[in-house]
Amino acid sequence: MTTLEENAGPVNDPTTDFNIFDPEFVRDPYPTMEEIRESQCPIAHSGRWGGSWFPTRYDDVVAIAQEHDIFTSRDIIVVPRSAAAAEGPYAGVAAPPITSDPPDHHWHRRLILPVFAPQAVAKYEQSTRDLCNQLIDKFIAKGEADAGTDYAQQIPVRVIATMLGVPTEMADEFTGWVRGVLEVGLTDPKVRLESRLKILKFFQAQLDDRKKNPRENDLITDLLNSGDKYPVTDQYVLGVCNLMLVAGIDTTWSAIGSSLWHLAQHPEHREQLRANPDLWPTAIEELLRAYSPVTMARIVDRDTEFQGCPMKAGDRILMSFPAANRDPRQFEQPDEVILDREHNRHVAFGSGIHRCAGSNLARLELRVSLQVWLERIPEFSLIDPAAVTWAGGQVHGPRVCRVRF
Ligand code: HEM
Repeated sequence: MTTLEENAGPVNDPTTDFNIFDPEFVRDPYPTMEEIRESQCPIAHSGRWGGSWFPTRYDDVVAIAQEHDIFTSRDIIVVPRSAAAAEGPYAGVAAPPITSDPPDHHWHRRLILPVFAPQAVAKYEQSTRDLCNQLIDKFIAKGEADAGTDYAQQIPVRVIATMLGVPTEMADEFTGWVRGVLEVGLTDPKVRLESRLKILKFFQAQLDDRKKNPRENDLITDLLNSGDKYPVTDQYVLGVCNLMLVAGIDTTWSAIGSSLWHLAQHPEHREQLRANPDLWPTAIEELLRAYSPVTMARIVDRDTEFQGCPMKAGDRILMSFPAANRDPRQFEQPDEVILDREHNRHVAFGSGIHRCAGSNLARLELRVSLQVWLERIPEFSLIDPAAVTWAGGQVHGPRVCRVRF
């Protein structure tokens, strides 16, 4: 595994040497994405961080997502895992269905889809609204808050903990573990492995408890009991719990945070949403498009040539849904946020067989958290735009984002 020092250093030409952890790229990746997209090499390659391809055009990202036979999902993290992780305890636990390929992917996904159906997630609307109000109650009198850590970060973790039937009081621990896997740990293999083990040990104990004390209306109990329909193993259930925690927290937190960061700087958009509440559905899709948080990876299964690029078996491809969503070939004025944008076939939730299973829940959380914020705090602005900090790599979004109101 390569180290932070080896992979840092200035980038002269992003088409041959991009660095997804370059601080400037983490803060504002869009100019580099545009430079690559409009160059001779719209599918860039870099040797940094174990090496990867970086398609930036919408059509290419969608085509790769569709070709799941060649571009497999057996490792979807943007950097390779360490040798220790490949051998240690729980080494065989993956994150189905996101890490599964057909034919298993089919039942891995089918088993969890019902819990994310629109009617199934609608029951979380009122509790999410209550949670958002309680969070705002804590800081509204102060006239300022951190829209990242005091608000956005606090919401999805509690919703997903409720859904999984695990203690919401452990929210900070869950958040720390997920950051360890998806954020800090991407450039620090030790943290990544430790965090992964904490998640898996925690869920193993939850599984053991459910086996002794099955619960009514409980996702983990239901998964453990679904063996009559599918070849369910403990390893599968553990993997699903792992994925739900990891996929359900950082992603939505980042989408809420980016949207608030945007609204803090655009009074005209706050006004538009106040004046015309019918705009919410298209506004949510537009914010998801413009600030898509998630980049996934694919592993090339066998040597192939894609758009003139000689891809070798084992190569990693970064599925930059954020770059695809800013492609001017697909979206007019892609860098503008147009809350009533009519044509918006964005791929913030991916494309093809792995399209986000949690998208209904994510949309609900994003809409409710922004609506409640705007109801309670109609006017607000960034205290210091330069002091906003960002996470990037796998999931892009603001972390510290102080606002005044
Ligand atoms: C704004 C928030 C979210 C975004 C932008 C997002 C994005 C994505 C993307 C891009 C994928 C496709 C992965 C791929 O192609 O490899 C995906 C898959 C998935 N997401 Fe989300 N996600 C979000 C929230 C959630 C939430 C709240 C959950 C709930 C636990 C969730 C659960 C999943 C699952 C289970 C998959 C795997 C689907 C499959 O492989 O068949 N996501 N998500």
